[in-house]
Amino acid sequence: MNIHIYKNKKELDQAVADILIEHVRQNPTITLGLATGSTPIGVYDLLIKDHQMNQTDYSRVTTVNLDEYVKIGKNHPESYFSFMKKNLFDHINIQMDQVHLPDGETDDLDQACEAYNLVLSQHIPDIQILGIGGNGHIGFNEPGTPFDMKTHIVKLAEKTRKDNARFFESLDDVPKEAITMGIQNIMDARKIILMASGANKAEAVKQMLSGPITEQLPASVLQNHPNVEVYIDKEAAKLII
Ligand code: F6R
Repeated sequence: MNIHIYKNKKELDQAVADILIEHVRQNPTITLGLATGSTPIGVYDLLIKDHQMNQTDYSRVTTVNLDEYVKIGKNHPESYFSFMKKNLFDHINIQMDQVHLPDGETDDLDQACEAYNLVLSQHIPDIQILGIGGNGHIGFNEPGTPFDMKTHIVKLAEKTRKDNARFFESLDDVPKEAITMGIQNIMDARKIILMASGANKAEAVKQMLSGPITEQLPASVLQNHPNVEVYIDKEAAKLII
């Protein structure tokens, strides 16, 4: 894994945005694996600004997102579909039939997992953006998730629900389950860019980079991937420098 450390989140965001923009320009039919959460918002903002200023073309880009909440409905303001529209898709010229998120709304969740695995086999991300949870999760693959799992339904860890409660009116409103790419799907990406900022990620970052490869720290599996770039700020890097 190559590690890039930046003075602050702003510089980190710019570095990741520059790479994505360059790749989209070089390969207009690129498949991007995208994440939600607070980590990538600054990058998406820079992609939008660049699109407005330089008309970078997303009309032939395909996207696959990591995950979606179960049972809150695609059009709920806190669904990941709404998040992606608000923070990126509504502001660039992407075709909405080329964006893919797992379907957390259906009653047949097993079928939704199968359907998403099929989508992922047809659209392998050229670049997958990842954030990391304070407990080392990637996607919603919480500690203990077998590395060989594909898209699946997860019960969200209490820590994850509490971390995400800031987006809902109360902790009770935070969904209890999500549908997520499995670790195996994530590992299929041709290149992975993992982003982390802030001191609350420092321990997970340290374990990911230099701890044992263990299902107890899902991100540690990335040590086995041949093409991972880790973009972090000084705070997130404070236990490794
Ligand atoms: C989001 C996702 C999660 C987040 C992680 C970090 O699609 O899959 O793994 O990347 O929970 O969240 P933030 O960025 O809010 O700290």
